[in-house]
Amino acid sequence: MSMLVTDPAYAALAHHMPPAEFALLQEDISAIRRLKQERNAIILAHNYQTPEIYHGVADITGDSLALAREAVTAQADVIVMAGVHFMAETAKLLNPSKIVLIPDARAGCSLAESITPADVRGLRARYPGVPLIAYVNTSAAVKAEVDYCCTSGNAKQVVEFAARAAGTDRVVMLPDRYLAANTACETAVQIIPWDGACEVHERFTRADIAQVRAQYDNVTVLAHPECPEEVIAAADFAGSTAGMAQFIAQHQPARVALITECSMSDNLASQFRAVDFVKPCNLCPHMKRINLGNIRHALETMQGAIEIEPDLAARARVSVERMLAI
Ligand code: 13P
Ligand code: SF4
Repeated sequence: MSMLVTDPAYAALAHHMPPAEFALLQEDISAIRRLKQERNAIILAHNYQTPEIYHGVADITGDSLALAREAVTAQADVIVMAGVHFMAETAKLLNPSKIVLIPDARAGCSLAESITPADVRGLRARYPGVPLIAYVNTSAAVKAEVDYCCTSGNAKQVVEFAARAAGTDRVVMLPDRYLAANTACETAVQIIPWDGACEVHERFTRADIAQVRAQYDNVTVLAHPECPEEVIAAADFAGSTAGMAQFIAQHQPARVALITECSMSDNLASQFRAVDFVKPCNLCPHMKRINLGNIRHALETMQGAIEIEPDLAARARVSVERMLAI
């Protein structure tokens, strides 16, 4: 029991689980910490990872943009991506000489799966001279066909930069039709969308928000821009996962509803103890494929390394580096 209480990870996890449950995780957590040292590895964890990963073993946590930025400066030989496959690919693009491991290669994304490189070439032929912007939630093969990458944290800036640089008032933004529509509300640039959607965020409706407001007094509603426009219009603030966390840090609302993936509220609840988190969330089955067991297995076996064909990687890297430079 004394080990449980003194383990620094438990301070953040006590909010989520009793000591007995933590004890069941302790062996994996200790093994992962030891393996990180032996392999000179770091773990990058997306904000949607479960609390035991986020608070227990991650070295760096954040949204897609932060994880991409951190991947550039990572001082390690091995990067384990506790996130989905496109995030691991992006880390590998930015660190071609490092080993990037994904603990479960099946951790996909409905957005990344909604568009192929041939689709992008079709858009290029259909809209000559119009810059093509790919959301980071795409495969490296798709990134290799576009001019810029963007995330939900910088979509407006990238759209405006790309249009200005090309001397046009239109851009193509793929593959998320909702991110495209929500970004279009913030800029004069015309955005031509693709018809993809996030299977987690597209399920939220305006009625969900009305229900939260009816049920909870004084609730501040924060939504991810992958939600439909009607949901964003009904929310008090829209932003990337890091944008939502910043909003809470700045405004310290008494009560918040995060209209996004479930683990986000769990992770922030440990950080902002005075805030009451209402949880009308949807689970991302892809993010939930990653767990302590397969992180440990990846570090033990070094299996699950991301490989990207060098020519394709060089082309895909250009769009990501252009984004990071903006
Ligand atoms: P963020 O870039 O906001 O973290 O979003 C990533 C994602 O997959 C949201 O569904
Ligand atoms: Fe993809 Fe949606 Fe899951 Fe994010 S939450 S990884 S966009 S399916």
